[in-house]
Amino acid sequence: GCPKSLHTDQQCSTQMASGQLSRAEALACSGCLHACHVLLYSDTPRQLFGNIPIRHIILMQMRFDGLLGFPGGLVNPAEETLEAGLTRELSEELGVALPISVEDHVNSCHAPASSPSSSPSSRLITHFYVKKMEEEQIIEVERAATSTATDHGHEVLGMVRVPLYTMKRGGGLGPFLSHSFIGSARSQLIDSLLRLNLVAPEELHEALTRSLKIHS
Ligand code: GTP
Ligand code: MN
Ligand code: MN
Ligand code: MN
Ligand code: MN
Ligand code: MN
Repeated sequence: GCPKSLHTDQQCSTQMASGQLSRAEALACSGCLHACHVLLYSDTPRQLFGNIPIRHIILMQMRFDGLLGFPGGLVNPAEETLEAGLTRELSEELGVALPISVEDHVNSCHAPASSPSSSPSSRLITHFYVKKMEEEQIIEVERAATSTATDHGHEVLGMVRVPLYTMKRGGGLGPFLSHSFIGSARSQLIDSLLRLNLVAPEELHEALTRSLKIHS
């Protein structure tokens, strides 16, 4: 069973880091399901249309269910370490051997209960990782993901880069954030943009405001 603290409705969110579990606490929950996902990114000197700095390449994916998310998936800690499981998922979804280590771990959180009646002991814990790569490596991952990856066209419909800029008429990060994301992937993205200093806080705030206006 899970330690008592694991039975609460805690979850990670942009405002509250308090819902996090340590990696060890999370693993102590024998009845929990575990999923590991990773944000892969690189710097880039390239510019869009020759005058808009792209700054960073961040890889997300369009999932089979029409939602945006990070590469990764379910891991069984009884059979593999979290990181080995994530590496396995990446080989399936991206078609590359990309070793992920404990140092790449960012946080572990309870996913929000899917329904009020769902059993706390079978609740999902999501483990999030970040890995910085060279631009050439990221481009190689994109290439493999849409050619040799076994899950291409099945679990994964395509890789997408996250636009980090805001154009004069609002195009860029704002419209991107207005799409639908799986689980807490949107928060994981926003938190990472801030934490890794990939977008200035004011720019992110502007994009968030714009993203909320788009469907209202
Ligand atoms: P199968 O091989 O078909 O089982 O899929 P998978 O192992 O690749 O699992 P998936 O990537 O769908 O992740 C498992 C669960 O984790 C999903 O059902 C979601 O609830 C959640 N999830 C998926 N992607 C993300 C993500 O990017 N962030 C977060 N926080 N949760 C995610
Ligand atoms: Mn064109
Ligand atoms: Mn998978
Ligand atoms: Mn997956
Ligand atoms: Mn899987
Ligand atoms: Mn699968």
